[in-house]
Amino acid sequence: MIRLGVLLSGSGTNLQAILDALEAGVLDASVELVVSSRPDAYGLKRAEAAGIPTLALTRKSYDDPVAADEHIARALKQAGVDYVVMAGYMRRVRAPLLAAFPQRIVNIHPALLPSFVGAHAIADAFAYGVKLTGVTVHLANEDYDKGPIIAQRAVVIEEGDTLETLEQKIHSIEHVLYPEVLQLLAQGRVSIGNDGRVAIR
Ligand code: GRF
Repeated sequence: MIRLGVLLSGSGTNLQAILDALEAGVLDASVELVVSSRPDAYGLKRAEAAGIPTLALTRKSYDDPVAADEHIARALKQAGVDYVVMAGYMRRVRAPLLAAFPQRIVNIHPALLPSFVGAHAIADAFAYGVKLTGVTVHLANEDYDKGPIIAQRAVVIEEGDTLETLEQKIHSIEHVLYPEVLQLLAQGRVSIGNDGRVAIR
């Protein structure tokens, strides 16, 4: 059983997939706090509907991004969070958060890292014309989109796919993969070797 804090900025479909997995009894965890970098993120509504406490920040709060992360780290600690789950959080995590949760911040990225880093990964992969892309779950560190990889799943780009159909495929894989990886964490099956790589047993 692990206690999660979820960071988001938008629609929160990955948060919803996590909540659905909890409800279905396939994830031994709880969500103790949902933090949004935007007060109007729909993900906050999903949290409220599930009775989960929320913390909404504003653009102004990030004028000093380090102070913002100190605030977030404090709130997550007060909520008793073990693991921080970035789910469409469009901000970089800074030293105070990384130090408060060493090797305990996970992120989901809609491409096969190290390809297509950044905020427009699905569109970038589609525009490039790759035939295979996918989803990566990794640990966050100071290097954006470069932390140790925990799991990846491939998505084939077929003739006839459009950016919209590709987005749908990616998101539906995300919604399966993220709860699965969180369950591996809950079971204590994820470790990081001296080589910095993730091993799953
Ligand atoms: C997902 O595609 C995730 O990979 C990316 O941001 C998106 C978040 O979607 N980091 P949602 O807010 O969970 O619906």
